[in-house]
Amino acid sequence: MAVKHFLTVPDLSKDEFEHVLQQAAAWKRQPYGGVLAGKTVALVFGKPSTRTRVSFSVGVYQLGGLPLTLSEQELQIRTSESIEDTARVLSRYVNAIVIRTFAKKDVEDLAAAASVPVINALTDEDHPCQALTDIFTFREHFPDTGRKITYLGDGNNVAASLSEAAALAGIDICLAVPEGCDLPKVKMDSIAMLSESCGTKFWVERDPEAAAAGASALYTDVWISMGQTDDSAKVERLLPFRLDGRLLARALPEALVMHCLPAHRGEEITDEVMDGPQSVVFDQAENRLHAQKALMAYILGGR
Ligand code: CP
Ligand code: NVA
Repeated sequence: MAVKHFLTVPDLSKDEFEHVLQQAAAWKRQPYGGVLAGKTVALVFGKPSTRTRVSFSVGVYQLGGLPLTLSEQELQIRTSESIEDTARVLSRYVNAIVIRTFAKKDVEDLAAAASVPVINALTDEDHPCQALTDIFTFREHFPDTGRKITYLGDGNNVAASLSEAAALAGIDICLAVPEGCDLPKVKMDSIAMLSESCGTKFWVERDPEAAAAGASALYTDVWISMGQTDDSAKVERLLPFRLDGRLLARALPEALVMHCLPAHRGEEITDEVMDGPQSVVFDQAENRLHAQKALMAYILGGR
């Protein structure tokens, strides 16, 4: 049987996605289980991480397995050994590889050479584990259909995966991004196709107030992602897209404030909304644990 990787959200079918979300709720109610008993999961980080690192480590432990956290700097990867050879070697020791790094292509190369499942814990292009969690969190508040999420800010990895996950979940998504901050065209096209096949709406709106109107959640992320250099012209363009009280007032009264964290308070989001009653940002952080356990239990434990 082919190894099941999770490199982007659509690596799960709609049914698999729903299954994982349901199981996440079960793991949230009952955190411990032996699904990974006797199994080791390598957690490889080429970029900093708080939530992903800790939620995967604790999650593997709670499922009865051993998490092995490694930084790329400590490994021979790239410097003395190719990504492919690293994948072949790690596959002889561990039962899965979770990796956060820069280029999507590196994770694809790793997965192609690995004989164990590979889970993408963020690349420059995608953040699928975050998106799984975000939809889980959204559904905790809005299990009904016919809703819209508005993402405000930079067209980045989080925006891409959130858009794919929203489509699979039957949620419309509006990307409120200024010109010059769009997702790459190839990603826009693939999300548009996915969204069409799922019967959801996916579109870009240049006016942040129009984008926020009628939304059930306003979501934002940092304007300069890890690995990008500071760009004051980009920040200038993004200023009208800051998630603040003025934009939140345009959304539905029950709308959620969402952010994957870490947040640059005062830049893409104000303290007022991040610390306000509509904010679920710390629930999102907690839910990384539950959603990733469900993902690992499905991919590695067949449940
Ligand atoms: N949201 C998220 O992935 O956070 P970390 O970078 O802290 O893992
Ligand atoms: N877009 C951000 C997400 C961090 C979790 C980054 O890539 O730095």
